[in-house]
Amino acid sequence: MAKDYVVKDIALADFGRKELDIAETEMPGLMALRAEYGDAKPLAGARIVGSLHMTIQTAVLIETLVALGADVRWASCNIFSTQDHAAAAIAAGGTPVFAVKGQTLEEHWDYLDKSFLFPEGANMILDDGGDATLYVLLGARAEAGEEIIPVPQSEEEEVIKKQIAKRMAESPGWFTKTRDAIRGVSEETTTGVNRLYALQKEGRLPFPAINVNDSVTKSKFDNKYGCKESLVDGIRRATDTMMAGKVAVVCGYGDVGKGSAASLRGAGARVKITEIDPICALQAAMDGFEVVLLEDVVSTADIFVTTTGNKDVIRIEHMREMKDMAIVGNIGHFDNEIQVASLKNHKWTNIKDQVDMIEMPAGNRIILLSEGRLLNLGNATGHPSFVMSASFTNQVLAQIELWKNAEDYTPGVYILPKHLDEKVARLHLERIGVKLSTLSSEQADYIGVTPEGPFKPEHYRY
Ligand code: NAI
Repeated sequence: MAKDYVVKDIALADFGRKELDIAETEMPGLMALRAEYGDAKPLAGARIVGSLHMTIQTAVLIETLVALGADVRWASCNIFSTQDHAAAAIAAGGTPVFAVKGQTLEEHWDYLDKSFLFPEGANMILDDGGDATLYVLLGARAEAGEEIIPVPQSEEEEVIKKQIAKRMAESPGWFTKTRDAIRGVSEETTTGVNRLYALQKEGRLPFPAINVNDSVTKSKFDNKYGCKESLVDGIRRATDTMMAGKVAVVCGYGDVGKGSAASLRGAGARVKITEIDPICALQAAMDGFEVVLLEDVVSTADIFVTTTGNKDVIRIEHMREMKDMAIVGNIGHFDNEIQVASLKNHKWTNIKDQVDMIEMPAGNRIILLSEGRLLNLGNATGHPSFVMSASFTNQVLAQIELWKNAEDYTPGVYILPKHLDEKVARLHLERIGVKLSTLSSEQADYIGVTPEGPFKPEHYRY
């Protein structure tokens, strides 16, 4: 049989498998779902396209989906985030995967296309950032003769259009057929759910979607505590710079910003925040951070990190003003938070993979991490397994819900019910020795809940 995967080196599979075995011990939520549903196989018949960073943690997610009966094909959602040994282990286990650390943008969209090519067609999407959903919906628009721009990450527009044209030429009607076969999408991250809500508002979302990001056990843990561990890890592996005493600027104080600021503070950096939202700005100030304008600190700070999910946050005029050897990186989903395209005419010196030194016209140099793509996955290995277990347990629950009950939902964006959010948290307590108190029925009555939960009203913000 022809090989149905693209990985860097299949010989890395043994190493990948060893790390997978270790990760399983740190992913109690996923392992509990395997124990609970492994016999019932609730995902039997599901043909899931996954577009999510191909890491060791994701490999445990993939094997959980397979253990629950799904057929899976996988691509990474970022050109730098793949861990080649994880991809090799998954390929060696028989699940088609198309992901190489350092793949080109052309390969990225080609691999995404390949991940849809189940012999009987895909019927579910598990997305991170929305590229898989975007691909199908843009292609179906193209087939209907509609304009397919604007593409959110505009610098990729030409590449995406070319890939869509190629698929249309090879298989006329494929996008429309695929779109109509998709029962639902579960979306991992803030940027992807923002896209889904925008599609819903425009009346262009044809299937139900579950917003996994806004499960409390996802965004308040992965985005925050995950970045708290992985941000500094990325900067250290990239630069080995001394962080204590340095001035670091974190743009954005949402969940990722809060974790990133805590990460840098934990390393001894003096951290400043920029924000546009008065609530988050006040939170930052009351957490003890100076809230500043980027313009006012751009020539004195040592490290800059964008966490906004917005575009053009660090612009060319900022980078021109920076100190010599300032470190610039992004941990938000797309690379357009930093105006990397505007640096293309400058002198680049590659230091090592995903680390470049760029000389400004005035002679000052900056160190740019992962070409502006999310540095915790580009320069390090992303979040640790334990926190990803919480995120991915939500993902699996969302896939089961959509696969089994899609008919109960009209097209739109939904969040998992609170009792499942609490279940995800509960599955992670024992591993870290948490002892949970129990309500007496009198106490439960007094605060208006049942002793089994849910414990908070929907409007509670954690
Ligand atoms: P969020 O919405 O909670 O936070 C973003 C914050 O940035 C908001 O408080 C917003 O007011 C602020 N902001 C927007 N424009 C700004 C500007 N021009 N200047 C300063 N602040 C600005 O979103 P969240 O969950 O923190 O996610 C942020 C990004 O990180 C998204 O792209 C998300 O997909 C990505 N993400 C990355 C992860 C990683 O491991 N690298 C993990 C989770 C999310």
